[in-house]
Amino acid sequence: MVSANGQQTLEGQVAVVTGGARAIGREICETLARRGATVVSLDLSDSADTVAAVEAAGGSAAGIVCDVTDEERVQAAVSEVTDRYGRLDVLVNNAGVFSTMERRPFWEIPVDEWDLMMRVNVRSVFVVSKAASAPMRAAKRGRIVNIASNVFVFGMPDFMHYVASKGAVVGITRAMARELGRFGIAVNAVSPGLVTTEVTEETVPAEYRERVAAGQCLQQPLVPSDIAQAVAYLAGPEARLVTGQNLLVNGGATMGPS
Ligand SMILES: NC(=O)c1ccc[n+]([C@@H]2O[C@H](COP(=O)([O-])OP(=O)(O)OC[C@H]3O[C@@H](n4cnc5c(N)ncnc54)[C@H](O)[C@@H]3O)[C@@H](O)[C@H]2O)c1
Repeated sequence: MVSANGQQTLEGQVAVVTGGARAIGREICETLARRGATVVSLDLSDSADTVAAVEAAGGSAAGIVCDVTDEERVQAAVSEVTDRYGRLDVLVNNAGVFSTMERRPFWEIPVDEWDLMMRVNVRSVFVVSKAASAPMRAAKRGRIVNIASNVFVFGMPDFMHYVASKGAVVGITRAMARELGRFGIAVNAVSPGLVTTEVTEETVPAEYRERVAAGQCLQQPLVPSDIAQAVAYLAGPEARLVTGQNLLVNGGATMGPS
């Protein structure tokens, strides 16, 4: 269980990853486990595939079925983690709604769809961080990595609720970094560009994915491991004094016109 540079950088640590049952979240779980962490996925869906993949590679993982917008369920899940493992070192707020939501002009977005977006993408980050930061604050150490999106930088059209939700995630990241610094906890965001996953392959037309890749400085399509490696860096010892940052992993897509 070694990292790319041959170190078990998260050996003995416990990481909670929201939305770890599939796609980017699953890759984050597998990557943190390869670096030595025990990973726990909190997901609405069963995380059995993630747990099996981690264990097949010799790592340690568990899944808890949990709606991460439900404070009571989240508190119970975090207690289950600390009771079982005695610690919680890393939180990755990855769960979100994205490619399954319809894109349309903001004046056509139904208010209940706006509320759903905010509930899943923003409220969950608040609720899970509130619960998971308690054992971190007590231990005076920890890392929180929030998955935002590069849409906040370029203002993706016809997706205003999603753009707004990810802007809120960047704001939360900066505010939490200020408040948690005195407890030795670093808080950062990773903002992916369009990532090819088993889900976006189904939900995002191939032609659109090709157009996005062509607009990047580095024109290869992003894959989940590009995001997971950035998360692992921010969760690991190499990022000791990095906090309050938003790391864009998008092949340079938001550099602006050349
Ligand atoms: N895929 C991309 O191109 C892309 C680009 C930029 C940012 N992102 C962000 O990355 C993150 C992961 O994206 P993805 O493409 O892997 O998403 P996905 O939809 O494929 O997977 C999301 C996971 O979160 C879980 N989830 C959703 N709501 C939940 C809830 N209330 N409680 C618990 N679990 C819940 C789902 O069950 C699923 O397993 C999201 O925050 C997304 O906004 C994705």
